[in-house]
Amino acid sequence: MTEEIKKGLAGVVVDTTAVSKVVQETNSLTYRGYPVQELAAKRSFEDVAYLIWNGELPTEAQLAEFQERERSQREIDDKLVDLILGLPKDCHPMHVVQTAVAYLGAVDPEADTEGAEANLAKAERLYAQLPTIVAIDHRRRHGLDPVAPTKDLGYAANFFKMVFDEVPAEEVVRCFDVSMILYAEHSFNASTFTGRVITSTTSDLYSAVAGAVGALKGPLHGGANEAVMAMLEEVGTADRASAWIDEALAKKAKIMGFGHRVYKNGDSRVPTMRKAFEDMVAVKGANDLLDLYNTFEEEFVGRKGIYPNLDYPSGPAYHLMGFDTEQFTPIFVMARITGWTAHIFEQQANNALIRPLSAYDGEDQREVPDNRG
Ligand code: SDX
Repeated sequence: MTEEIKKGLAGVVVDTTAVSKVVQETNSLTYRGYPVQELAAKRSFEDVAYLIWNGELPTEAQLAEFQERERSQREIDDKLVDLILGLPKDCHPMHVVQTAVAYLGAVDPEADTEGAEANLAKAERLYAQLPTIVAIDHRRRHGLDPVAPTKDLGYAANFFKMVFDEVPAEEVVRCFDVSMILYAEHSFNASTFTGRVITSTTSDLYSAVAGAVGALKGPLHGGANEAVMAMLEEVGTADRASAWIDEALAKKAKIMGFGHRVYKNGDSRVPTMRKAFEDMVAVKGANDLLDLYNTFEEEFVGRKGIYPNLDYPSGPAYHLMGFDTEQFTPIFVMARITGWTAHIFEQQANNALIRPLSAYDGEDQREVPDNRG
């Protein structure tokens, strides 16, 4: 076989993007040129959503208009509520999100309407409605009626209100907002690239997002944040971390929340998310969890020299915010809908069908025996 196979497209540059830049050498990440840790410290997720789509941070007036559009689109129609409530309570929440996105595509008369304005409107609607969808799914699993979205609260506070029927302390809402900024965008990760592949066939935005949701569900990608929390709960206490890791590595298991295809010296987003997790520890007094978190990281990095990725601190942080582990990846979708759709717009604006080659290693050509008698 003469062709060099690039399994997993590792190290392959397939297109340009202006949305974000992952800089391995300095372990940094910028959205439209702004370092994410600065965005997380100085702006809100609503600001960053506007930036990712529009290329510039919003002025006060632009932000107010954007917030008004988002708040006025938070409601979902009764048929979608009934569809969500009718799904099996033990199905995976990412299947609920994927079903809801497909439904929204099915009922949107503009689903196949092309053009930047029409597609931004769809993206903004998904951004506004995904929190409502995730919140309804959370409550139905707890046997609770949905809590309607309210225009009186910002994006993050409204989500907490819909999930828990109350808004927590400001520092908790802030931690959540930081996580959304960090999860919003990350160049050609598997789910974003899935969205670009689907878009490259000139299929519609809802189909591309539904595909991206499917890719994000996987534990090697977005599903890792759920798996991190399940892993830490299985380990239980800091003094059991070493033995647990030895056993897992003996089985050649992948340790969730560690490693990354692009960052080989540590994920640039981790320090900021770790600080948010530590803030949650302070609010909730969860020192045992922090001790387990630190010990596990020290033990694993000490053995393999493989560093945490964003999912390692975000999992326990969401746990301390009160979310069910199975809702962590749907929350990731709520953030990444911004990055996914920004890449969909780029693909639409400068499209080429994405269709790589394969190197054949099957049977040589042979004659078909005739069994027709
Ligand atoms: C996200 O791409 C993005 O940008 C994704 C993301 C985003 O914002 O969109 O950052 C979000 O998906 C973060 C990653 C979440 N996934 C996990 O935490 C799952 C655990 N991580 C691994 O599965 C792994 O690190 C990957 C899949 C994330 C990356 O793997 P690569 O780049 O394909 O590297 P590899 O699997 O080839 O690993 C190289 C070596 C292997 O050892 P050998 O087989 O060569 O002996 O390192 C080992 C791996 O076994 N290794 C691990 C490991 N990660 C790598 N061993 C144990 N546990 C791990 N976590």
